[in-house]
Amino acid sequence: MFSTIARRYDLLNHLLSGNTDKRWRRIVASRVGEKLASNASEAKQILDVACGTGDLALTLFETTGVTVVATDFCRPMLQIAAGKVPRCIKLIEGDALSLPFLDRSFEGATIAFGLRNLASVEDGLSELFRILRPQGWLAVLEFSRPTNPLFRALFGLYFTKVLPLLGGVISGSKSAYNYLPDSVQKFPDQRELLLLMERAGFVEVTYENLTGGIAALHMARRP
Ligand SMILES: C[S@@+](CC[C@H](N)C(=O)[O-])C[C@H]1O[C@@H](n2cnc3c(N)ncnc32)[C@H](O)[C@@H]1O
Repeated sequence: MFSTIARRYDLLNHLLSGNTDKRWRRIVASRVGEKLASNASEAKQILDVACGTGDLALTLFETTGVTVVATDFCRPMLQIAAGKVPRCIKLIEGDALSLPFLDRSFEGATIAFGLRNLASVEDGLSELFRILRPQGWLAVLEFSRPTNPLFRALFGLYFTKVLPLLGGVISGSKSAYNYLPDSVQKFPDQRELLLLMERAGFVEVTYENLTGGIAALHMARRP
């Protein structure tokens, strides 16, 4: 599915969100930067999982100045990323459910709009836990539930009616943009995701709602 939409993925992200996606990624990068700055370790590395076309990896690198490695299992997405990110950001083909990295390799890990797409959210969280060093930080950016009922209803109309129509026409893949609202509906809400992260072993799990809860950023530390 991601191979078929790779070419139009960035255009649609920016268009359908009115560029809000860029702001959300900048918030992720700045939160991760703050957390890593408080860690004592010298040589820091961040892994961006399910990196897609590389926008978050690039923002992380530009914001934190830390070494960034990015991974995804979809080659056409990685090929687009390769045309955008500097060569010092290593792009590695790999499955988020079986990451090609040793245990305890990274001080930071991020996954943006990726966790929802995995066959198992729990297994994805375990893998993210495994590759983080003790005291390392995880950031999960995902679509979530707007908190205000009126806003939720209005956004729901846009997300389930307008977005699939526009996304389908522009990307040429109707199913991918029908899948998006369906997958968000099935994904845990803010509180449920926090509990899943705690169950995976993370501590200091917190979340902040972005744009009224359309998306949420969960931060957590490996003890
Ligand atoms: C919605 S895109 C998000 C891309 C990027 N993180 C962003 O913020 O735009 C989801 C990405 O997850 C990747 N993905 C889905 N399941 C995966 C898996 N099991 N392993 C690695 N990547 C996966 C897809 O290939 C796709 O690039």
